[in-house]
Amino acid sequence: MKNPNENCATLIFPAVNQTAVEYLKAARDRGEQVVCAASVANDEIAAEGGELHRLPSIYDEDFARSFLSLVGEQSICRLFCPVSTVYAFMAQFISAHRLEIKLIGQSPVRQQIEQYRQLKMRARRLLPLVELCAEGTPTLSLLEVGGILRQASLIYGESNDDKLAAMMGVSSSAPAGDVVEIGSLMGRSAFVLLFLAWRHGIGPVLTIDPWRAADCIQRESPDALQTVTDEWDYEILSEGFMVNMVPFRTDDHAHLRLTSEEAFNVYAREEPILSSMGRPIAYSGKIAVIHIDGNHDYDCVKKDCELWLGRILPGAWLILDDYIWAHGDGPFRAGNELLHDQPDRVERAFVCGKALFVKLRY
Ligand SMILES: C[S@@+](CC[C@H](N)C(=O)[O-])C[C@H]1O[C@@H](n2cnc3c(N)ncnc32)[C@H](O)[C@@H]1O
Repeated sequence: MKNPNENCATLIFPAVNQTAVEYLKAARDRGEQVVCAASVANDEIAAEGGELHRLPSIYDEDFARSFLSLVGEQSICRLFCPVSTVYAFMAQFISAHRLEIKLIGQSPVRQQIEQYRQLKMRARRLLPLVELCAEGTPTLSLLEVGGILRQASLIYGESNDDKLAAMMGVSSSAPAGDVVEIGSLMGRSAFVLLFLAWRHGIGPVLTIDPWRAADCIQRESPDALQTVTDEWDYEILSEGFMVNMVPFRTDDHAHLRLTSEEAFNVYAREEPILSSMGRPIAYSGKIAVIHIDGNHDYDCVKKDCELWLGRILPGAWLILDDYIWAHGDGPFRAGNELLHDQPDRVERAFVCGKALFVKLRY
């Protein structure tokens, strides 16, 4: 079927901010014709190679003539307006001049309101799960759950909402001790653990990830997964992680760019480990919460459990990621061995968001 808008263009006006640049890139990707206009020059639009048509300010008496002439010359039939005041002005302008121009989407302010509503709905859906996992211990408020979800969503990662909610819940009953994460990628779950460790006064956080291609190979998984890890730039992952952690209490967190096994040797020395700010972080050598999310091959997960679970405090939580996993059964087998071979260690266990959560007696 022929698209009636095929021969007309979208005007981005005013093309002055990041939202405009993002729209420009996405529109080009989908083959949409785009024209950019603004009253002031914009370096980011220029960097994207977007020609910028100059229009007077909307308050200028020449605005209407210039705008209508651009609309005619460029066959404009849609308007993307990433600034709230201009959006409101243009909505009236289009109506007053009876223009056949579709204003795309809602105003930036309305979008923010809508996003906030959606976030609150997400938090409201998850709060009962957080409370269920907390089993009666005082836990987070609705706004805290929303805040964690929002920040976590800004960080690339592989932990879903349900898993994060269960992490939020169980951490309220964790004893005081070290919080350890094996496998951090760009820091989505690390951020959540950092917040929870601070919120519940659990203890310092140690994250571990070698960000090294050789360690990421999932030998037991299908080829499709290998090609995904081939795409990574490991220096970007490492730097991206550090950037993502900057706003979140880096004074009580250290990272070891090592494999889990190498990091355990450092941790077992029970000497302070330097944070990214160069501050010595004193770990107790006793673990209150551990998130195992490194290499998912059976031998690796098994080794992670053997090494690190020897340092577990009574009542500590093990979070074994991808216990239910489409690409292999390493975590499933290692998790089941713990549950079946050492049942006396297990105080409580459940699966949530594909991860296995186990409260250990010792
Ligand atoms: C599934 S991702 C972690 C996702 C992260 N926890 C999140 O929620 O976004 C797995 C990570 O484990 C790391 N990794 C691979 N082998 C490892 C090992 N032997 N020790 C520690 N980390 C490892 C990889 O570099 C990768 O960043």
